[in-house]
Amino acid sequence: MGKGSGFGKVILFGEHFVVHGIPGIVSAIDSTTNSEVKRTDKIIEVHDERGGSKGYAEEKKFQQLESINRMLEKMNLSPENTGLNIWLGGSLPGFSGLGASAASSVAIARAIAEEFNLSFSDQEINEIAYEAEKAYAGNPSGIDNTAATFGGLLWFKKNLVGGPNIIEEISIKKPVEIIIGSTGIVANTKAMVKGVADRKKANPEQYDPLFENAEELATEARKSIQQYDLKKIGELMDINHRLLREINVSCKELDFLVDISKEQGAYGAKLTGGGGGGCMTALTPGKELQEKVAKKIEKEGFQVLRTKIGVKRI
Ligand code: PMV
Repeated sequence: MGKGSGFGKVILFGEHFVVHGIPGIVSAIDSTTNSEVKRTDKIIEVHDERGGSKGYAEEKKFQQLESINRMLEKMNLSPENTGLNIWLGGSLPGFSGLGASAASSVAIARAIAEEFNLSFSDQEINEIAYEAEKAYAGNPSGIDNTAATFGGLLWFKKNLVGGPNIIEEISIKKPVEIIIGSTGIVANTKAMVKGVADRKKANPEQYDPLFENAEELATEARKSIQQYDLKKIGELMDINHRLLREINVSCKELDFLVDISKEQGAYGAKLTGGGGGGCMTALTPGKELQEKVAKKIEKEGFQVLRTKIGVKRI
């Protein structure tokens, strides 16, 4: 039997914009998806025991099978002749927006590699998971699989002409508490990514300045993280949420969770990931503030993950 795991992630700055070559900032969180894989002489079977949004595993089943086929091809294993019994579990909930698909792809790729005695470097695992992500996201930036593979707090810039992406670790003085609130709505990242691309193409005069703002924002955010200026990071997260609203990827449930987090004293709050449902995140330094914001969200009937950004790689 082979085993593997992948990190969950939270995009702090630049989701959607990263698909178009704008830098983004992502942090792995201290929850992982784990996988165990056994060779069988039958077909590919997946036993998904991840907790999280009801319907997540069901809704993503077809995309999941396509992603496994893509992975096998990239590993030079024939999908038609490879029977696999795949188990998925771990502490990362299957909420949309936490990089659950990328974390599972990295976990499965590592487990398959171990089961078949294939030795892949982390960078190769990252490339395999990127292929798998195409099944979920259509034209992914690669930010999710990069965070899922390497962990840590990362600066990511997609290379739009096909060369290696820029991936740099950002140092932070110490980890900071955040919360991740789930709308409970299973979002379709592929459709959200396509929607932004279509609207950008149709309205360049409206969208191009927003993309320029997103680039400046990411650069400023990187500086404020390195300076450990938590107030500033929070302010920039608020601005990022407004930009995401302007490109039409928020929804009323996300805006509601962002607003109540701010009312409870969060330093900043924004949607995270693909939007249109899925998750939001709020910067809540210190256990007390984290608990206050988390409790309020739970009281309103939503699920919350209490975690930290900037945790060192395991
Ligand atoms: O919704 P998630 O966790 O899959 O995040 C998607 C992030 C996007 O920027 C919207 C897409 C991408 O590939 O970067």
